[in-house]
Amino acid sequence: MRTSSKSVIRTAVFPVAGRGTRFLPATKASPKEMLPVVDKPLIQYAVEEALAAGARRLVFITGASKRAIEDHFDSDSELEAMLDRQGKSDLVKQLRSVLPSYASCIYIRQSAPLGLGHAVLCAQPAVGAEPFFVHLADDLIRSEVACLAQMAEVYEAKGASVLGVEVVPRRDTEKYGIVAVEADKSATSRVRSIVEKPKPADAPSNLAVVGRYVLAPAIFEHLERIGSGAGGEIQLTDGIAALMREEAVYAYRFTGKRYDCGSKLGYLQATVEYALGHPDLGRDFRKYLNALDVSAHAAHKPRAARRTGAAVKRKAH
Ligand code: G1P
Repeated sequence: MRTSSKSVIRTAVFPVAGRGTRFLPATKASPKEMLPVVDKPLIQYAVEEALAAGARRLVFITGASKRAIEDHFDSDSELEAMLDRQGKSDLVKQLRSVLPSYASCIYIRQSAPLGLGHAVLCAQPAVGAEPFFVHLADDLIRSEVACLAQMAEVYEAKGASVLGVEVVPRRDTEKYGIVAVEADKSATSRVRSIVEKPKPADAPSNLAVVGRYVLAPAIFEHLERIGSGAGGEIQLTDGIAALMREEAVYAYRFTGKRYDCGSKLGYLQATVEYALGHPDLGRDFRKYLNALDVSAHAAHKPRAARRTGAAVKRKAH
């Protein structure tokens, strides 16, 4: 992943307080952000992307049972000493590179699950009056140039907030913040309107905000003022809609591939594709997949489908 050295954005906010109920029981005692894709947890990919975009201050908005994230970015001298004694210096090096010395971590506890907008507002004391990144670790983006670095360039060119967006199937608009933009086909376009999780019939487009934002600090005033929105939560989307009444906000179609690691299917797709590209594992994993008889694994049909396959199929269409 190529990096950006000239970015002026120094702070990245990682809202990590959500409980990850879609992955229960795996996430009962362990944060969903610690789910590994091959050999790194999702939150490490998130931090690497933010560092590649120039961030140096990493602000985690945490909640119950998220201690593992703090431990992950802390040094573990006992483990390092043990690995040293065993002559595993390459592993020691890997552990030390989890967080470079020029970066610092700040942990802020979100006292109650009041929504993404509230989580971002919790970061205000650490962010101050500067533009900042927001990164949702569930959305893993594979790209040559880090997605946040691409967005930092847009921020510098436009001097205004930037939302990472991509086209999604219309039936999925209810899962995302959806924007209408001025110039539909351009990579960067001013946002005309934004709405949180509209029904497909009500959605102004099928251009969805993924978990990447560059936000102007003025967002905080709006997040303080707006009440609860969709789902009874303080929505970041509503804060952005309020910000847009005072200043421009841009949508940017990033270059890269996004995996929705908040869903089991997206997480599995990421796992397979990152494993195929892994420098140590890729070749053997590709061999394994090529030799795999997929049809021999197709026995896990729902019970009803096994009994009355045709009837169930008709129903599903
Ligand atoms: C959040 C935001 C939504 C955005 C999405 C991206 O929703 O509220 O606007 O499109 O992240 O992943 P969540 O996935 O937390 O429900």
